[in-house]
Amino acid sequence: MYRTNTCGELQLANVDQTVTLAGWVQKTRKMSGMTFVDIRDRYGVTQLVFNQETDADLWEKSNKLGREYVIQVTGVVKERSNKNPNIPTGEIEIIVSQLNILNASVTPPFTIEDETDGGDDIRMKYRYLDLRRNSVRANLEMRHKMTIEVRSYLDKQDFMEVETPVLISSTPEGARDFIVPSRLSPGQFYALPQSPQTFKQLLMVSGFDRYFQIVKCFRDEDLRADRQPEFTQIDCEMSFVEQEDILNTFEGLSKHLFKTIRGIDITEPFERITWHDAMKYYGSDKPDTRFDMKFVELMDIMKGHGFPVFDSAAYIGGICAEGAASYTRKQLDALTDFVKRPQIGAKGLVYARVEADGNVKSSVDKFYSQEVLQQLKEAFQAKPGDLILVLSGEDIMKTRKQLNELRLEVGSQLGLRDKNTFSCLWVVDFPLFEWSEEDQRFYAMHHPFTAPKPEDIALLDSDPGAVRANAYDMVINGVEVGGGSIRIHDSGLQNKMFQLLGFTEERAQEQFGFLMDAFKYGAPPHGGIAYGLDRMVSLFAGLDSIRDCIAFPKNNSGRDVMIDAPSNVDPDQLNELHLVIHTEE
Ligand code: AMO
Repeated sequence: MYRTNTCGELQLANVDQTVTLAGWVQKTRKMSGMTFVDIRDRYGVTQLVFNQETDADLWEKSNKLGREYVIQVTGVVKERSNKNPNIPTGEIEIIVSQLNILNASVTPPFTIEDETDGGDDIRMKYRYLDLRRNSVRANLEMRHKMTIEVRSYLDKQDFMEVETPVLISSTPEGARDFIVPSRLSPGQFYALPQSPQTFKQLLMVSGFDRYFQIVKCFRDEDLRADRQPEFTQIDCEMSFVEQEDILNTFEGLSKHLFKTIRGIDITEPFERITWHDAMKYYGSDKPDTRFDMKFVELMDIMKGHGFPVFDSAAYIGGICAEGAASYTRKQLDALTDFVKRPQIGAKGLVYARVEADGNVKSSVDKFYSQEVLQQLKEAFQAKPGDLILVLSGEDIMKTRKQLNELRLEVGSQLGLRDKNTFSCLWVVDFPLFEWSEEDQRFYAMHHPFTAPKPEDIALLDSDPGAVRANAYDMVINGVEVGGGSIRIHDSGLQNKMFQLLGFTEERAQEQFGFLMDAFKYGAPPHGGIAYGLDRMVSLFAGLDSIRDCIAFPKNNSGRDVMIDAPSNVDPDQLNELHLVIHTEE
């Protein structure tokens, strides 16, 4: 037997027991004739004591231990004189009588401690060492717990986990596919699924009326802190349901996860907002509702007073930051620089402070009388001490998005975005289509299988842009953690969707013939949702990037620097796959 106990469990109750532990050397400290070694495993750290007086040979051996050596020790548990209240084993230590070096280690490239000296790149290259650190391990533990709780909750609700294939043909979800050449079918390719969307719908046709799968999805898109090229969905589908049934079921799942994983009771129903209002009041389809600071539109008040920027604007809107009138000139200049950054692209920022006497002082006072500025104050119901920030622009959507960035930045600066406060929201009634100016055509906002609201079907011919979808996103703290919709289950309507999306009949048949055919054999009404598991875990763990809850993530260029992927392949392999690589001169 390698060990009797883990390194995280021995306490005062174990004093005088003889135990055997195995683990890694975290740290050694030498003090006149005594050597203290911290031994670490997945469960914690325990202090070992080697005493020159009681066993000089053993003490000698302990002095040869380096960081990350793998050792096995046997000894007696004793109460410590110098207790460490910060760790569960901090009241005891092991007086070692036997030391067995199971494996040596070269010096690790960074210290394996909570506050490591290793930068991002080096930690990713040696990710297996990074995973020995408490913080990263704790994130993976939370991820494990979340998948267990998801399975347990959904199983109790009669959902059945079914695996769907990974080598498929392209599904149109908006991103590029990763493709895999076929050896047996020269010149043809599989695609890796962006999601199991079509398969889960087929499973509904098969009669599995409640499906789920914790499943890897692949999207070749530009990467960000909340996006990885391969990520995991909690993918779900239900038959004989309306939107309301799905929202209730998955609100239940989210509440269960908050309770079991974070110990948080979310008793209120999730707030709901239409996509239209989300854009109007927050300039985002994933508003962070931990704080209010809704947009107020100011065209009526601010336009037409001779301030050229506002007079030529198609949109003027602002936010009111409570108690922020004390912002210094320097802080306001910094905010102005923030909105003018190319990523945000605003031309400038107008501010107005509500002073102690109720008067308003703004950065554009010379264009506005106190009377107009008072109307501005009233529009926000601002109080003395508040700060009003106003943006304008020629494009309504663009300006709202800029104001959204400003709102989030000010929210962060005022400490309104606490990672341990959670605000859950359903965004509903998304438009069915999104118009692309560049391509002069409609794209599906979610995907082509999303059903229009029955009352809007008549608009499909006359005004497709106004058609609302039976689609919804779950948003928590401004993160889109999940999205889904009621699906079209009628092959006629599905054909019409493809037409509106610019598919020829042949192309629709070629790409989705299997689904259209299936719909002819008794497709039940159905709908579903998929959560991003990585996003849920990182939200629950308060992480800045989903990478921190993925064991072996890709970097921002989509590379795995540890195994050096993607990589070149052998010419023989290319031949076998009927591929020729054209390199740019
Ligand atoms: P959607 O494309 O909205 O819907 O994806 C569902 C959820 O998956 C997560 N997600 C990602 N997480 C990490 N990295 C990525 N690159 C990434 N892309 C998406 C998000 C998102 O909310 N088939 C539909 C679902 C349905 O209609 O049932 C779908 O995939 O949290």
